Amino acid sequence: QELQGHVSIILLGATGDLAKKYLWQGLFQLYLDEVGKGHSFSFHGAALTAPKQGQELMAKALESLSCPKDTAPSHCARLKGQFLQLSQYRQLKTAEDYRVLSKDIEAQVEQEGLREAGRIFYFSVPPFAYVDIARNINSSCRPGPGAWLRVVFEKPFGHDHLSAQQLATELGSFFQEEEMYRVDHYLGKQAVAQILPFRDQNRKALDSLWNRHHVERVEIIMKETVDAEGRISFYEEYGVIRDILQNHLTEILTLVAMELPQDVSSSAAVLQHKLQAFRALRGLHRGSAVLGQYQAYSAQVRGELQRPDGFHSLTPTFAGVLVHVDNLRWEGVPFILMSGKALDERVGYVRVLFKNRALCVHHERNWAPEQSQCLPRQIIFHIGHGELGHPAILVSRNLFRPSLPAHSWTEVQEQPGLQVFGRPLSDFYAYSPVKERDAYSILLSHIFHCRKESFITTENLLASWVFWTPLLDSLDHEAPRIYPGGAETGNLLDLEFNGSHLSFSQQQPEQLVPGLGS
Ligand code: BG6
Repeated sequence: QELQGHVSIILLGATGDLAKKYLWQGLFQLYLDEVGKGHSFSFHGAALTAPKQGQELMAKALESLSCPKDTAPSHCARLKGQFLQLSQYRQLKTAEDYRVLSKDIEAQVEQEGLREAGRIFYFSVPPFAYVDIARNINSSCRPGPGAWLRVVFEKPFGHDHLSAQQLATELGSFFQEEEMYRVDHYLGKQAVAQILPFRDQNRKALDSLWNRHHVERVEIIMKETVDAEGRISFYEEYGVIRDILQNHLTEILTLVAMELPQDVSSSAAVLQHKLQAFRALRGLHRGSAVLGQYQAYSAQVRGELQRPDGFHSLTPTFAGVLVHVDNLRWEGVPFILMSGKALDERVGYVRVLFKNRALCVHHERNWAPEQSQCLPRQIIFHIGHGELGHPAILVSRNLFRPSLPAHSWTEVQEQPGLQVFGRPLSDFYAYSPVKERDAYSILLSHIFHCRKESFITTENLLASWVFWTPLLDSLDHEAPRIYPGGAETGNLLDLEFNGSHLSFSQQQPEQLVPGLGS
């Protein structure tokens, strides 16, 4: 295919952890997906480090690039070689460095005899560096007329509503809204990215079910076994609500709760409907949250931050929060958001649990699991890890047979003895991705294709902070419950909200005492 233009991708923070772990691999994948389809590419790894040392560090970061599974080794070596040839390190510190980069890109484009298509700057740097870099890009490294600019940011996007607003205003003085891509990597996870397409492709079956008349509750869960050791200076300032619930879990909640636009491929429509869902979230109060902290946390803070012997941190490392969406569709339906470090298992999922006949769910004495109408009816977007170990979409067989795009999702093979949420896998229509893809490679592809619905707009970001900030403020002086961490954490997962009790232990996944959310 004839080349239409040159795209330059500048990775700021090219030698850092995120770049090493995900971003270079994502860029390599983008190159493999797009090469030969109309664009030429150059990849610029940038950092503050001096050229020689930076070059070496970047070479290390690029060592572990891997090709898709079915690639022959010799072909893979050739592809990597091509990618490395297009990738170079440069030190970017001053406005002059950015001007030189711009000139170099222009010279390369001219040499190729192409026009410039656009530039992507990926900010994989701490947020305190954002504004200076943004100023330099804006003043000295914008592409010429006719070419686009995209700037990509990583969280944290502020600490509360006010600081998020300040950062957004500063960045907004350098960039247009359509130029900015705020990443929430959970939006790139395959099961999460499939929520809206799934709702769209199964409109007929879901139309009558996706509402307060039929949904008992929605659980949006991200449990981790790792603790915060090694990241305490970040974690102590943010805690689990800011780290996970305000962004990853709330984004997912809005994908479940939002009204479905007629055209789910329209970014503008999706973002607008999402914003309405954010704005429909009922304000939280202190009783909406259960907070915990793993036992070893305060000692880790004392160690890493040199705090005195008697110091006890108030930062929560676990939170279960009961959320309501105040509209006709969802009135009275509990959305339970829960995440924590040092828990009993690593798993992430969204589980929409449908009502069964009252007799089946609420009266234990009459519980008759062998009757199919009494079996739990649920849809699970399994994000990863857990018993299944991979992303999956599961729909109870007594609900409906879902339709999923056959080229990207395939039925999961029966695995004898495997239980999912206390049920055998054979209870479900179960699908997993034909090709497992990392969230960052999906998001980089969406940035390249300008799919803004996978990113967080300024309006959506601020709406999320408006929702979370009052609760966070009210928790400032609250001591979280201490939990042991690891396998013994079970009891903490039995959440209590206003006297209602909900169990998340894997042994009794269905246990729901009546009255929750009422
Ligand atoms: C990050 C959080 O956003 O997500 C981390 O800052 C967390 O604390 C991580 O561990 C989890 O992401 P994943 O993709 O490993 O589930």
